[in-house]
Amino acid sequence: MFCALKFCNLKQMNLTFLIWEGELKDNVYACRGSALKTCVVLGTRPEIIKFSPIIRELNGQGLDYFVLHTGQHYSYNMDRVFFEQLRLPEVRYNLDVGSGSHGEQTGKMLIGVEKVLAKEKPDVVLVEGDTNTALAGALAAVKLGVKVGHVEAGLRSYDRGMPEEINRVLADHCSDLLFAPTWKAREILLGEGVAESKVFVTGNTVVDAVFQNLELAKSKASVVSSLGLERDGFFLATVHRQENVDCEARFRGILRGLELVEERFGLPVVYPIHPRARKQLKVFQIALEGLTLVEPLDYLSFLQLESSARLVLTDSGGVQEETCVLRVPCVTLRDNTERPETLEVGSNVLAGTVPERIVEKTAEMLGAKRDWPNPFGDGKAGQRIVDILKRSLG
Ligand code: UD1
Ligand code: UDP
Repeated sequence: MFCALKFCNLKQMNLTFLIWEGELKDNVYACRGSALKTCVVLGTRPEIIKFSPIIRELNGQGLDYFVLHTGQHYSYNMDRVFFEQLRLPEVRYNLDVGSGSHGEQTGKMLIGVEKVLAKEKPDVVLVEGDTNTALAGALAAVKLGVKVGHVEAGLRSYDRGMPEEINRVLADHCSDLLFAPTWKAREILLGEGVAESKVFVTGNTVVDAVFQNLELAKSKASVVSSLGLERDGFFLATVHRQENVDCEARFRGILRGLELVEERFGLPVVYPIHPRARKQLKVFQIALEGLTLVEPLDYLSFLQLESSARLVLTDSGGVQEETCVLRVPCVTLRDNTERPETLEVGSNVLAGTVPERIVEKTAEMLGAKRDWPNPFGDGKAGQRIVDILKRSLG
């Protein structure tokens, strides 16, 4: 509700911001056949998912593009499965950078991306979000004088302790085209001195991905029944953030909180465990009582679980957005969020990592009316981003 009004007002005030359906049709025709060459840089699970609508659009329009995978994620269930399931074309390059410290990983990517860009000479490099992959892609491109487009620009947690915050700020300030998912993100960018002409409010491609895959997830995936679950009869949890799982006190607090949630509300907690978290369980020698741990899931299975859960507890960025779109209440296991729109519409609350508080916030969200508006767009962000690319650079 607040979004619709806001979009309307701003649209009337400033016509240079390209939003929502219908506005770009003339430009699409004007730009057909342009020689624009685009390089999509991705490397992690959420980037593959959030780039999938853009890749589909580039492919569908027969545009000149290629995908460069850094290899930041490489396990089958963190990488390949998404290419197969989302029917994405093969990547042209995979740098196979793998895991490592931030400097080592980002440095290897920077070297590899630069070599590919020097050879391929794209007109624009697209990066997404706040990973080391996004930072390396943006930095390699800007230093070579190649234009940078940042998908999901303008998010801020204002917590410089998070590696993601550093990455997203730097990627934004390397970029020529900043695709802000919401008007709030746009305001943040303008507040940091980014030129108005570079910022486009497009919606978030996470909505496109949900809309494109939800029916398939409901009809084709079988994870809910194979785990012996029923709709609204379980909680779903995901926990993987460095600041949570690499800190023993925080990780233990969250896991205790999840066990208490199971006990207090009498429903199982299903936790598809990210490899970073799996590793940290061993490091801290944590033995879990309760909780249904499963391996990281493919996208359709995860969407089926997410849309069927009574409530989701998470520290993931993408999951905060998806639950908002799916109208499933969310409890965020962090002290801050760069997705404040979810707090404002009432789909999400911040619980931190203290067990009793996690239980309190879960009780609060179990009472939420599931009728909040979706602030992340209409599912056409991918199309809009490609149209803006052609119009601005084609
Ligand atoms: C990265 C992003 C984070 C994002 C997350 C999505 C950065 C700084 N962090 O965190 O913002 O939310 O991806 O999932 O870019 N591992 C595997 N197999 C894999 C990938 C990782 O086993 O395919 C294990 C390795 O032990 C590795 C650890 O997970 O050391 C962490 O991986 P890494 O890519 O460094 O960071 P993420 O925690 O995945
Ligand atoms: N996801 C998935 N399988 C899982 C957990 C998550 O497909 O087992 C998807 C989820 O639907 C969302 C994305 O992965 O689109 C979120 O990725 P993640 O939580 O790893 O990263 P973040 O969004 O926090 O950067």
